[in-house]
Amino acid sequence: MEIYNSAGLLNKKVSSYKENGMMVGFVPTMGALHKGHLSLLDYCISENDISVTSIFVNPTQFNDPDDLKKYPRNLDRDLDLLSQNKCDIAFCPDEKEIYPEPDTRVFDLGMLGDTMEALHRPGHFNGVAQVVTRLFDIVDPDRVYFGIKDFQQVAIVRKVVRDLGYKISIVVCPIVREKDGLAMSSRNVLLDPVQRMIATSISKMLFEAQSLAPVKTVEWIKNHVISVLNCQPQMKVEYFEIVDEDTLMPVNDFRKPAVGCIAVKLGKVRLIDNIYFSL
Ligand code: PAJ
Repeated sequence: MEIYNSAGLLNKKVSSYKENGMMVGFVPTMGALHKGHLSLLDYCISENDISVTSIFVNPTQFNDPDDLKKYPRNLDRDLDLLSQNKCDIAFCPDEKEIYPEPDTRVFDLGMLGDTMEALHRPGHFNGVAQVVTRLFDIVDPDRVYFGIKDFQQVAIVRKVVRDLGYKISIVVCPIVREKDGLAMSSRNVLLDPVQRMIATSISKMLFEAQSLAPVKTVEWIKNHVISVLNCQPQMKVEYFEIVDEDTLMPVNDFRKPAVGCIAVKLGKVRLIDNIYFSL
């Protein structure tokens, strides 16, 4: 595996592959890699000639300085994992490579920027839009791989790619879960053993919600999930919304496919998850 820190050198290398007719796939990450990230890399390797994975903890998408400080980082381990999993190129830039000048761009995210994560993490998606566009300009991939675990992020990236006319295919990959159902996340390592046990109730309630959809109303399911989870020690639901899969606007019934999106605080750790409803 080749490792690049320089945006310019990486860009040259990828161009040379593309000039030779090779398809380049790209997996953007913030590191602290787990099997969820590695599943995106597997899809990327299987569909492209060259796979590039970036590791960059993007400061502009953190609305909480404490969250940025505590975000798990382990570059050596991540590079080992990427190399063992047959990644061709790892891109690990420092902040100056990505933002030689402060990024002052403000993206119009439309309605997608006015709901759920966007309301609870002001500025977060503008930061995501800043970093993914910088990474797309540097890496210039044919395909880019995102996890549906970050459901709203996928919708935002689709919009940015469409609005700015990037010729990149977005490939969306399923959520990888631990054996007990907890969605894999870099933040899971921040949970203490008791919190880790309590965390399983999040996906349990999402699966329960899914099984209740044929017989209960949206309103009933929302109240049920929120009240059961809020009874768990240390847990506070930030939101649980059942939304249209395209517009992300709340739905009143399950006639069209919908997605249940949840964010909770467990102690100081913030976790998100989601589930698909299709009757
Ligand atoms: P990060 O949280 O590191 O996630 C990188 C990619 O891995 C995202 O597309 C995310 O949806 C996916 N992912 C995370 N957990 C997953 C799981 N359990 N199963 C499947 N895929 C999973 O998302 C970001 O980084 C950043 O916002 C980024 C896009 C890199 C921009 O900084």
